Amino acid sequence: MKRGYTESPSASVGPPQSRFKQNPEGDAHFLEDESTKIFTRKVADHYSARTNQTLEEREASPIIHLKKLNNWIKSVLIQLHARRGDAALDLACGKGGDLIKWDKAKIGYYVGVDIAEGSIEDCRTRYNGDADHHQRRKKFTFPARLLCGDCYETRLDKVLATDAPFDICSCQVSALANISALLRPGGTLVGTMPDANVIIKKLRKAEGLVFGNSVYWIRFDEEFSEKKFKSSSPFGIKYKFHLEDAVDCPEWIVPFHVFKSLAEEYDLELVFAKNSHEFVHEYLKKPEYIELMRRLGALGDGNQDQSTLSEDEWEAAHLYLAFVLRKRGQPDRTQANSRRDRGQMHISKEDIMSINSI
Ligand SMILES: C[S@@+](CC[C@H](N)C(=O)[O-])C[C@H]1O[C@@H](n2cnc3c(N)ncnc32)[C@H](O)[C@@H]1O
Repeated sequence: MKRGYTESPSASVGPPQSRFKQNPEGDAHFLEDESTKIFTRKVADHYSARTNQTLEEREASPIIHLKKLNNWIKSVLIQLHARRGDAALDLACGKGGDLIKWDKAKIGYYVGVDIAEGSIEDCRTRYNGDADHHQRRKKFTFPARLLCGDCYETRLDKVLATDAPFDICSCQVSALANISALLRPGGTLVGTMPDANVIIKKLRKAEGLVFGNSVYWIRFDEEFSEKKFKSSSPFGIKYKFHLEDAVDCPEWIVPFHVFKSLAEEYDLELVFAKNSHEFVHEYLKKPEYIELMRRLGALGDGNQDQSTLSEDEWEAAHLYLAFVLRKRGQPDRTQANSRRDRGQMHISKEDIMSINSI
């Protein structure tokens, strides 16, 4: 398929993590055991080890257009839902790759949380403007705080009690209990996650238990050789996911209806969920987002740069969906932004709060 600005392409989302654990009471929070800890450590080490790439290294990535497309999707979600002055919570903020998007949305306060020490340190230098490749940038306009720790296992509602409520939360991990506790009524959660439907369909089409292409592969264990999954036991369907130059981790299938009903338990109502392909089809009809796509370059710049997503990146894009949830209740706009005082305009290493032991 040829892609460009003349037709309406479809496409993707970047590489989020999904990890759901059901505890015996039937909810899905704050459950920790040894294997979870080991997994968590693996994830943190994997992301910490990924150094900040130079612009040249980044452009040489085999999934550069997929990454750019992911950026576009997140930018559209943030532009659609963040408002001037909002307090934003960026769960699994990584190296702060979305800081510029939040700045463009003119938010008033930012809190970033990530489990990977190396990533949060990169986020700090990026925010301060002292990361080499970001030196050209002016300072961000909002005060910020950074926390390092596991957003599943930590009672963020306690740690961030004086920063909350947040108006908007972005997340690439499914820490619903924490998010719900921290969002104000009417507040928004925007995110991306693997699309379980697409993954299971691809598994069923595949000859064996592995499928993929030159940029990704997914492998299910032998225990799933029948490729049948009971809707009565939707948890524990584990697979190994490899996305070239991005992810190499175990993940768990999160059926969207399960995610939706868990979200409802936490007072988060679904506004929309769209596979990335559908998302691109819909928002690439709007002039402002066409222009944004041109600038971010996932499909080339429409002029000299004729490069675009490869077929394989496009297929990998299909593995993700974008969603928006809203916290039930009437917004209380009188809760002023006093929590901004908790943030700083320059963050030193000592300011990064470690929340693992809390
Ligand atoms: C694909 S990266 C996304 C980073 C960033 N949100 C972005 O879009 O550029 C996923 C991030 O999730 C973080 N992460 C994974 N599991 C986490 C957890 N349990 N608690 C906090 N962060 C987690 C990883 O360290 C990594 O930085």
